Amino acid sequence: MQKDHLIRLKTWFDTYTRSFLTGETLSDSPLVLKIEHTARVCDNICHLGRSIDLTGGRMRIAEAVGLFHDVGRFVQYHRYRTFNDRESVNHASLGINVLNEAAVLDTLPGDEKDMIADAIRFHNAPALPENKPPGSMVFMRLIRDADKLDIWKVFADCYRHHQRLEPAIVQHLPDLPTWNDNILNAITDKRIARFQDMKSLNDFKLLQLSWVFDLYFPETIIQAKKRGHLAAIARTLPDDRAVRHAVAGVMDQLEEMGITDPK
Ligand SMILES: [Fe+2]
Repeated sequence: MQKDHLIRLKTWFDTYTRSFLTGETLSDSPLVLKIEHTARVCDNICHLGRSIDLTGGRMRIAEAVGLFHDVGRFVQYHRYRTFNDRESVNHASLGINVLNEAAVLDTLPGDEKDMIADAIRFHNAPALPENKPPGSMVFMRLIRDADKLDIWKVFADCYRHHQRLEPAIVQHLPDLPTWNDNILNAITDKRIARFQDMKSLNDFKLLQLSWVFDLYFPETIIQAKKRGHLAAIARTLPDDRAVRHAVAGVMDQLEEMGITDPK
């Protein structure tokens, strides 16, 4: 990707996302959070990209993936007033439609367009497809890691500063003193939990902790440990033996992954 291409994509993203803002703090707040999330995910993906010696055009592709990974969130919220994909539509697919309708990626070479679209399409999928070329896989892996690092930050910062979590960001889940055993079992089995098992805010916290089983790049693991967001989220969970056991499994995984090669 050429430098001027990336500049044009950034300009389009700014204009497009700002077109959803109304000036009303209450209704704009979830969208502003997504704009800020996008900026930090771009920083994260560039940081992870540098850690694997990505340079030049390929680094710019990675940044474009960061820029567009949640582009579907804006029309999703505008139409459905939720970020819950199960109660609306898959925001990754919606993002691809948005980019196609606006022909945003049409001036890029075909292979670059495909790599960006693949990375967006699978950034929130339970698992990655196995039939994609290695050139595409790196961007799919980068965005999944970069996105997780920032989602942990958003939640951990709210808990650290005792701030109210934006209802749309917690997908309107009730803050109940309960949790779903399916999610705890996923953690015990060292796999990522399923969105459809979330019934309460605790389930969302546990689901986020389960994402450590899906991290790929060594630098993501280094950052996850250094930033301390997982521990901050874990501290807000109920003081229960089964929950403590699951959290310990997550922290052990982080330690183990930090001293072994990625899967
Ligand atoms: Fe997303």
